[in-house]
Amino acid sequence: FEISNQKVTESCPSNIALIKYWGKYKDQIPANPSISYTLNLCKTNTEMEFVAGEKFSVTTFLAEKEEVKFAQKIEKYFTTIEEYLPWILKGKYIIRTENTFPHSSGIASSASGFGAIAKCLMHLDETFAGKTDADSSLRKASFLARLGSGSACRSLYDGLVVWGETNEVSESSDLFAVQYPMSEIHPVFRNFNDWVLLIHEGEKSVSSTVGHGLMNTNPYAERRFKEAHENFSNLKLILKNGDMKAFIKLVEHEALTLHAMMMMSEPAFILMQAGTLAVINKIWEFRKQTDLPLFFTLDAGANVHLLFPSNKEEDVIKEFIIRELIQHTQNNGVVKDVMRF
Ligand code: PMV
Repeated sequence: FEISNQKVTESCPSNIALIKYWGKYKDQIPANPSISYTLNLCKTNTEMEFVAGEKFSVTTFLAEKEEVKFAQKIEKYFTTIEEYLPWILKGKYIIRTENTFPHSSGIASSASGFGAIAKCLMHLDETFAGKTDADSSLRKASFLARLGSGSACRSLYDGLVVWGETNEVSESSDLFAVQYPMSEIHPVFRNFNDWVLLIHEGEKSVSSTVGHGLMNTNPYAERRFKEAHENFSNLKLILKNGDMKAFIKLVEHEALTLHAMMMMSEPAFILMQAGTLAVINKIWEFRKQTDLPLFFTLDAGANVHLLFPSNKEEDVIKEFIIRELIQHTQNNGVVKDVMRF
């Protein structure tokens, strides 16, 4: 390969898991398969400048502000992936990133961030080592993103995306994500709103790295990993036949299980806040009264992802959210996304 100075830009969306990845083995191998919706509007835009022949170093800027800690993380990450990109340490990098959603909103900026970096690296790799076909390039980007942040590997594809080996999805792998076959998804699940209520915008008290680690000693871990597989089989049927009620039950159960695992860790930790619980209770009341399909999922944080199909009933749901739920957020913060595929 022949390296030269380059400047590339790429963009990558974030994602929200329906069946959660929580717990992993060596080399970012997930303890169970997970599936997520790609968030079309919550993106990271990344410009990567490569200066060939300089001593290896990484400088990063987030929205024009230098981020030294993030740069150290990326330096370490680049060193670990040298075996897959042999040219990677032969120059210096200036990386500028921008998110289209609020920083520290608890929307997985590590997923979109590592996804965008992996895409930039594949762009450089094709310039230096020659083009491969689009499918294998995307697969390698997903593989590389996984080594930065596990859930990031799912951000490389649109729609519903699976990471982790499962008999339910052909070609699924622990090493990279694959798109869930469109033909197996009932139309009601292809047009969805995801509104994120920003309950708490501060730093999380426990990072996801520490959280994954605590699954190693969690007495419920094995049962949880088995349940994720069982949920996958159920979800496959639900997605095919369009059973919204069963979908809601499964997705909310997964979210609560993720947080239950945190509470059962040693030491225990809780990332939900009073506002999170208030919102969950109001959603359940609303469903009891109206039978409309408004439901939630949670990431590893206090914010609540509100999920509801994009259809003729959505205006009633939106009106309820604005009237009853926004009061529990900080600065009336809501990030609105629509997933369409
Ligand atoms: O990708 P990580 O290591 O930040 O883990 C994220 C895990 C969850 O967001 C909580 C769940 C998931 O599957 O995305």
